[in-house]
Amino acid sequence: MSFQKAIVTWYQINKRELPWRSTTDAYVIWLSEIILQQTRVEQGLPYFHKFLLNFPTVRDFANANEDEVLKLWQGLGYYSRGRNMLFTAQQIVAEYNGIFPVKYSQLIKLKGIGDYTAAAISSFAANESKAVVDGNVFRVLSRYFGINVPINSNAGKKLFSKLAQELIVGQVPAVYNQAIMEFGALQCKPKPGCETCPIAQNCSALINQQVNVLPVKLKL
Ligand code: ADE
Repeated sequence: MSFQKAIVTWYQINKRELPWRSTTDAYVIWLSEIILQQTRVEQGLPYFHKFLLNFPTVRDFANANEDEVLKLWQGLGYYSRGRNMLFTAQQIVAEYNGIFPVKYSQLIKLKGIGDYTAAAISSFAANESKAVVDGNVFRVLSRYFGINVPINSNAGKKLFSKLAQELIVGQVPAVYNQAIMEFGALQCKPKPGCETCPIAQNCSALINQQVNVLPVKLKL
């Protein structure tokens, strides 16, 4: 079985039911992804619900004032993210008539949306074939393929992005992206569960006793 097929099969069986996985509303997905860059799923869930309750649409968000947004954001830290969100919401009302864009090429131009978030929104909302590369994906790919290039080097970022993009070809982007992140979050954790891992027999890191040294991250 291919790496991708194994990951997706594992996901169908082991995935958590998370509210942003049952929507294709780009605004809702954006909200969840920005919050999840700041905190873990369990901690992020109440923020996600609170924001959606106060601002059901991107237009509602855009009409908020900064104090309101920062009050809801309280406890998440890194307040420029909250401020950026308000700016982005207003930009979407102004430039897209309040219709949240779903194309990677449009998303990447928005404030506070980088490569990861643009890939996440475009794949989850519209099945665009853009691979997400977050900490989970770095961990899974570095171990399974035995890649010791530092993930925070320019060479590493390029190499892992290229590999991730090759792997998503032929997959359902929304499912495959969720699957590889969930696999990293629940199975191939920093302290991984290799005993129960369905791809252990082909995992380069496990075979070569590199599980605890991969991924390599340079101290900058
Ligand atoms: N972390 C970041 N994005 C996520 C998602 N879509 N589901 C679960 N955890 C995540």
